[in-house]
Amino acid sequence: MQKFIIMGGNRLSGEITLQGSKNSSLPIMAAALLAEGECVLKSCPLLTDVYSASRILNCLGCRCRLSSGNAIIDASDVSAFEIPKELMREMRSSIMFMGAILGRMGECIISIPGGCELGPRPIDMHLAALKKMGVDISDNGGIIHCRIPSGRANGAKISLSFPSVGTTENIILCAVTAEGETIINNAAREPEICDLCRFLRACGAEIKGDGESRIIINGVKKLHGCEYTIMPDRIAGATYLAMTAATGGEMILKNACIAEMEPFISVFEQTGCGIYAADNKIYIRKGARLRAIKDRIRTMPHPGFPTDAQAVLMSALIKADGTSVFEENIFDCRYRHTDALIKMGADIQVMGKIAVIRGVKKLHGADIEATDLRGGAAMAVAALSAEGTTHLGNISHIDRGYEKFENIVSSLGGRIQRE
Ligand code: EPZ
Repeated sequence: MQKFIIMGGNRLSGEITLQGSKNSSLPIMAAALLAEGECVLKSCPLLTDVYSASRILNCLGCRCRLSSGNAIIDASDVSAFEIPKELMREMRSSIMFMGAILGRMGECIISIPGGCELGPRPIDMHLAALKKMGVDISDNGGIIHCRIPSGRANGAKISLSFPSVGTTENIILCAVTAEGETIINNAAREPEICDLCRFLRACGAEIKGDGESRIIINGVKKLHGCEYTIMPDRIAGATYLAMTAATGGEMILKNACIAEMEPFISVFEQTGCGIYAADNKIYIRKGARLRAIKDRIRTMPHPGFPTDAQAVLMSALIKADGTSVFEENIFDCRYRHTDALIKMGADIQVMGKIAVIRGVKKLHGADIEATDLRGGAAMAVAALSAEGTTHLGNISHIDRGYEKFENIVSSLGGRIQRE
């Protein structure tokens, strides 16, 4: 198993270009299955989750090639509708193929997806929504067989009890080629949902209302291929801002999605950082000690503060002046990184969904293990601002979401090595 050896203490400085979004690329790769023709996805990050999605596409009979930031997918000859268990287990987003395979083939066989352990991550909402669209579903010891008797799903009015990102995406994927109109009420409004819809529209789909709580999809018979550029990764962006702030550095983040990163810009302003955004660039600078955030940081569905940036922001606040309080409202178990941060000298108290961070003067290196993708990135942020050397194990979690992580950190002057 690989690890990072991080020698903390250097101020990060320089400029970097933000990678394409993981959480857009994965549903868009699934969506390419619906297009009868070639899709060229530009700015698709080369990550282990993207490699997993590519393996799924190839095993369904598509041709998917990944090279220098592009994914080229030709789904003209899709021939299979079953995803083997071992591929399903590689990531949570394997579930996104369910709606897409159904939309293209009318039948699919899948099993429970893998992904980060953040507490229970059921798929009940996905299944209930697809049932409403006329999909027959049977579960035989964890093997889920979905079939549309008529071959084509029907449009439906679906009201979600919670704006689940994955469920909204799966409904959209099944609905774009369904018969008639589908309305999703209380839909997720995350920017990555809009990115998926922009891609699908470029392939000929009829979708309105993405980015709002009510999405309306008019099913069309066929989709065609297209060329599309994936949006920048706002969570990776938040991670590099957190690193720079935590080390008292200075950075220009290029290819930034400023509107979508607004929640981070305002939070880092409150810590006393100089932060300016214009022309797809964000500039951040912090010399003296950060200030704690006065108001409780509540993770919420978009446009609230994203749960995916909770851990990396927490790491930036460990050495801040004062006390910051987090409230995690999306996942039951998303503070698993805090034990490692405490081992490095952080003062963090977790009580259910609340975490209280009292600023300390310094952190020290330690032997720690990444617990999940963003938790692992948060540990790297802390290690870069700590005195001494940190051995960070289990970095396959980080490789799932950050492209060339150590190259980027090194280019900013951080001392990091993969071993
Ligand atoms: C997506 O996961 C993201 N993953 C997650 O990012 C992100 O944390 C999450 O949305 C919330 O923003 C991808 O886009 C690939 P949800 P998803 O369905 O779709 C409950 C990262 O670090 N729920 O909105 O799985 C669920 O248990 C990853 O990049 C049900 O109860 O999130 C959770 O508590 C981690 N039943 C809540 O809803 C269901 O059927 C939100 O989940 C579905 C979800």
